[in-house]
Amino acid sequence: MVEIAQYSETVMDHFMNPRNVGEIENPDGVGEVGNPVCGDMMTFYIKVGDDGRLSDVKFKTFGCGAAIAVSSMVSEMAIGKTLDEAMQITREGVAEQLGGLPANKMHCSNLGADALHKAIQDYLSRQTAKEG
Ligand code: FES
Repeated sequence: MVEIAQYSETVMDHFMNPRNVGEIENPDGVGEVGNPVCGDMMTFYIKVGDDGRLSDVKFKTFGCGAAIAVSSMVSEMAIGKTLDEAMQITREGVAEQLGGLPANKMHCSNLGADALHKAIQDYLSRQTAKEG
């Protein structure tokens, strides 16, 4: 796990200019998670293209700066990936891509990957419902 004393430039950049903020109309999957430590909330919306890749990923985060940076990074990492690849995005991988997070902020990085995975699971269960 990457732990640093203060925010990296990448974290600051994604916090100040978060990518893919918002909501997708008629999303193919939605995933919402809350952080029991601080009460912050994060919702991810996904669109899946005909090629089975994530064509769009957006998020709404009511949370701290680290949570916003994490959401932004997760969305960037996920777009263009297959569902399998996106499921392999880990909490640690996100923190690493951000150049590390301070130790007391590592819990914030958990939300991002979890919310994305939930959105993918939601998409998959909708497919099963359609087939059934
Ligand atoms: Fe709540 Fe960071 S303090 S997600």
